[in-house]
Amino acid sequence: MKRVFLETYGCQMNVADSELMAGVLERAGLELVARPEDADAVILNTCAIREHAELRVLGRLGEFARLKRENPALIVGVAGCMAQHLRKKLLESKRVLDLVVGPDGYRDLPNLLLRAAGAPVAEIRLDRDETYGDLEPKRDAGVRAWVTVQRGCDKFCTYCVVPFTRGRERSIPLVDLVRQVEHAASQGFREIVFLGQTVNSWRHDSHDFSDLLRAANDVPGVRRIRFTSPHPSDMTDRVLDAMGSCEKVMPHVHLPLQSGSDRILTAMNRTYDMARFREVVEGLRSRVPGIALSTDIIVGFPGETEEDFEATSAYMRETRFDSAFLFKYSARPDTRAFKWPETVSEEEKGRRLTLLIEQQMGIGAEINDTLLGSEVEVLVENISHRDSSQLYGKSRDFKTVVFGNDGTPPGDLARVRVVGTTAVTLLGESLKTPASSPLVSIGG
Ligand code: SAH
Ligand code: SF4
Ligand code: F3S
Repeated sequence: MKRVFLETYGCQMNVADSELMAGVLERAGLELVARPEDADAVILNTCAIREHAELRVLGRLGEFARLKRENPALIVGVAGCMAQHLRKKLLESKRVLDLVVGPDGYRDLPNLLLRAAGAPVAEIRLDRDETYGDLEPKRDAGVRAWVTVQRGCDKFCTYCVVPFTRGRERSIPLVDLVRQVEHAASQGFREIVFLGQTVNSWRHDSHDFSDLLRAANDVPGVRRIRFTSPHPSDMTDRVLDAMGSCEKVMPHVHLPLQSGSDRILTAMNRTYDMARFREVVEGLRSRVPGIALSTDIIVGFPGETEEDFEATSAYMRETRFDSAFLFKYSARPDTRAFKWPETVSEEEKGRRLTLLIEQQMGIGAEINDTLLGSEVEVLVENISHRDSSQLYGKSRDFKTVVFGNDGTPPGDLARVRVVGTTAVTLLGESLKTPASSPLVSIGG
């Protein structure tokens, strides 16, 4: 048992967890490989957020079942939220599986793999104390380092499976996080993204999320700081003030709204109403002028009427999010809403979704068009996959910018003029003149 193939589904927290697993595996002397065909063990780090996410993984497991028929010694493992969600059912129904490991079982992963070579293993206990705060992840190369600051979720939105798959909320101590940020910066990462299901509810001892932002802002070598996803109810004035005063905290926030109707927000147990959400948006826009906002919306929640849906659509027109992830409600076992009769047909969910997608695409394009001719600062990530004469990176407000390769190395900042837009990308022209001196990096 030497070589492991790890494949990741789901949110950024799963991506970060895979980096954590990679660190654990490598320290135990195991090697990570890029192709399942070269592996002694394959592990799928899975997501359970919507039914579709689980169906994708089940499809992929079918492919691994074929691989296992050719190589019966192959260990097939499922990790992550779906492992926790389906637990023993996975082991019983899918004969192909040797290992099922939930989000709190990664510390012992090398050992579990060894045991799984003998007989099927399930490690699905949720551990209220496990934060992995002391473990160094093996980060994928790039300019952006994901730093998990909090695990689990205590909000129990009535549609959401996460509190059941990831357990109760736990925050990682400030000292561990600052050490991780410093370490990432020393490895050359230039952007830090703090991760948590309700990242701004992070608190440890006497510190809250605003202290974490300020501490990260002081770490030399870090150029940009982002975080995802904050919960509207935890957007305190202290957090808003820190966002306004920390120059490395970027002017973009992903702020999940879910619905624009107070009635539905209550049924979802979101703990804020539209008045409060508006207050948060105003607080953000007044402290950070021009801040970009994105959101998540669910259509077709049980009980959502045409009027509720129209309230969502109207608020989105009013607030003008830069972008939005739009989802059809998917009933998830274990959640409270799972027991409620679905009142919106699949067809109607589809209609509502399409309407919002079209509306949002128009708004997003209009916002991007207002940037035409302006100058943006881009943190260069790499040469474009599609066209090697182009570089790409993100603007301060998290828009993807593609521009002619001016020799700026990944991790450096480039000044770019926006000369065109597509639905999701800004097209730019480098403002660097061949004779100009190296760019001065902000806070670098
Ligand atoms: N913790 C984050 C969201 C995590 S899940 C937050 O509270 O904002 C990402 C998004 O998936 C959610 O914001 C929600 O819009 C969507 N989602 C979660 N459960 C869902 C379900 N059962 N059906 C459809 N969409 C869902
Ligand atoms: Fe799920 Fe709500 Fe927690 Fe987000 S805050 S992870 S939507 S329960
Ligand atoms: Fe999916 Fe788990 Fe993330 S359910 S969205 S991988 S927390």
